[in-house]
Amino acid sequence: MIPTPHINVSEQGVIAETVLMPGDPLRAKFIAETYLENPVQFNSVRNMFGFTGTYKGKKVSVMGSGMGMPSIGIYSYELLNFYGVKNIIRIGSCGAIQEDVKIRDIIIGMSASTTSNYASQYNLPGTYAPTASWPLMKKALTIAENKAIPVKVGNILSADIFYDDEPEVWKRWARMGVLAIEMEAAALYMNAARAGANAICILTVSDSLVSHEATSAEERQTSFTNMMEIALELA
Ligand code: HPA
Repeated sequence: MIPTPHINVSEQGVIAETVLMPGDPLRAKFIAETYLENPVQFNSVRNMFGFTGTYKGKKVSVMGSGMGMPSIGIYSYELLNFYGVKNIIRIGSCGAIQEDVKIRDIIIGMSASTTSNYASQYNLPGTYAPTASWPLMKKALTIAENKAIPVKVGNILSADIFYDDEPEVWKRWARMGVLAIEMEAAALYMNAARAGANAICILTVSDSLVSHEATSAEERQTSFTNMMEIALELA
């Protein structure tokens, strides 16, 4: 089944067992060029750039996921099921929906509630709870503690809709203690669970639906160093 329709790699071993996945393929390029030794590009299909290099001697890949669950669903499925990937670390941004979650805070999604019906494909007789991998979570928390980087861990919302017809619908998720909104984690967690692999989602808060503050696009591209350092150590 390789190459896959969306990843133009014909050999096993070109993609590392651990893949960092930012949403933006240009951020994947930036991470590869900034943090990895000897990065080699392995994918450019649809400009969804992917690179493999080493970080402190360990082989690691970084590839864009695109925005939304259909997109990360496709790329993570192909990585996990056709390229032997064992760990996917999503690094992304989110919108805070709690007063005490501030812009530039780091959030780790312990669980991902969702407005998507991605889970319907599994025909479960109930409601699935997409959950981060415990080994990755435990290690991420140790790394954050050792680096004295504060993180907030909890339930996040993977939404299908960015521009909601009911603009304050997020308040209902906030009442349930959900920390922030993004658009990919739930599908990633489900794909990893189904494949018997590990996934975790580490986010920086780019904007707040509560305070209406936002970080600039440039800050989103370059200033999320703490999140990237946790992710790279985790790899
Ligand atoms: N909603 C969904 N995804 C996001 C947001 C948001 O407010 N901010 C960053 N990613």
